Amino acid sequence: MKIQRPKGTFDILPYGADESWQLSDLWQYVEKIIRQTAAEYGYREIRTPIYEHTELFNRGVGETSDIVMKEMFTFPDRSERSLSLRPEGTASVARAIVENNLMQQGAIHKFFYISPMFRYERPQSGRYRQHHQFGAEGYGIASPEQDAEVIDLMLQIYHRLGLKNLKVHVNSVGDLESRQAYKAALMAYLTPHFAELSADSRTRFEKNPLRILDSKDPKDREIVAKAPSILNHLSPDSKLHFHKLCHILDQIQIPYVVDDRIVRGLDYYNKTVFEVLTENLGAQNTVGAGGRYDGLLAQFGGPDAPGVGFATGLERVLQVMMAQQVSYPKTDRPFIYFIPMGDGAREKAFNLTAACRHNHIPADIELSAKKVPAAIQNALRCEAQYCCILGTNELEIGTAQLKNLATREETEIVLDHIIPILKTIFIR
Ligand code: HAM
Repeated sequence: MKIQRPKGTFDILPYGADESWQLSDLWQYVEKIIRQTAAEYGYREIRTPIYEHTELFNRGVGETSDIVMKEMFTFPDRSERSLSLRPEGTASVARAIVENNLMQQGAIHKFFYISPMFRYERPQSGRYRQHHQFGAEGYGIASPEQDAEVIDLMLQIYHRLGLKNLKVHVNSVGDLESRQAYKAALMAYLTPHFAELSADSRTRFEKNPLRILDSKDPKDREIVAKAPSILNHLSPDSKLHFHKLCHILDQIQIPYVVDDRIVRGLDYYNKTVFEVLTENLGAQNTVGAGGRYDGLLAQFGGPDAPGVGFATGLERVLQVMMAQQVSYPKTDRPFIYFIPMGDGAREKAFNLTAACRHNHIPADIELSAKKVPAAIQNALRCEAQYCCILGTNELEIGTAQLKNLATREETEIVLDHIIPILKTIFIR
């Protein structure tokens, strides 16, 4: 019996993938741009374990969040300790900073990660049980320039990847004081509508009423549309922070809309929250999202240092790229494909293939097809740019045919000169 991959997961293949966004060369390209851009902004890579103690996410992401309540892959290890596959990266990075005493080595830390995340959600287009996030986290700076920096980094990556028509939504969920004031106003507004709310929202009413603003239920949305705005309940400090952030975004020419309905589904946020939306993805229209989480380190026993960051789902970024027909360079193809005809030519071709590879010219060789047309088909399938056909007769005089597979043009070349010739035409 064939074994299939688990529901909500997918393979990333060099070719033969179900969908173009599942091709490994696209992933490599996107990851390369991300790494380059993150480095230019001063962010360095952090890698944390794929599973953590469940308690980390209970405390960090929040016991009442959907992620913790419904979506974690949680299992006991052989000693009955509860472990969970990480559903997101922020809590793990905070834990790693505290555990490795990084705040004692400097007040400011800027990290990024590109990692698989796991959420037991109902799979659909744009929503997977294993998805991949690029995330960036900046620790140590409380002022709104840091919020603007991570938003700018996120948008710069989208821009470099060729994504268009994205909308940035920003909001402030304030500090604890602001949220308490708002919670009271929101509950007072929702109380007369309590019976009309969805079952999920009625559960949230006591535990975490702000999350009701996030509800997808149509009736909830209708009720929430007239709810008071959190922006009218911000403390003076939170209000100033938000105004400054908006001012900085204006200064660096990042267009945004203020959207007081964004609350985010994770409990660690305070002050700034933001989401980047696309019209290309249907229901799963959030390409990336983030916010400020001052106090998260302290929650894990670290110092009371501020932090702000974001994460973007790579599947969604790739899907938008494909929907918007963005082209990308294909760098993992052979440049030249050697086709030997007969045993004598085979030895020479193998030597030439090795010589190309030793000279950084991507090369491959036909070792199975008996006839030239079949060999050319193989060269085309692996998307080589040139093939070099080595026949026994030509070998005797030291020449071969170099064929441009796109234009079908053929040139006779002297084999002794092939490496310098290829070096001049190979540009990547
Ligand atoms: P999040 O909004 O839960 O935030 O996820 C970030 C992004 O990951 C989403 O905007 C979406 O693009 C992608 N994503 C989430 N779940 C799935 C899924 N099941 N399938 C495909 N893509 C998905 C966080 O995780 C926070 N840790 C972000 C953050 C970092 N905030 C501050 N720093």
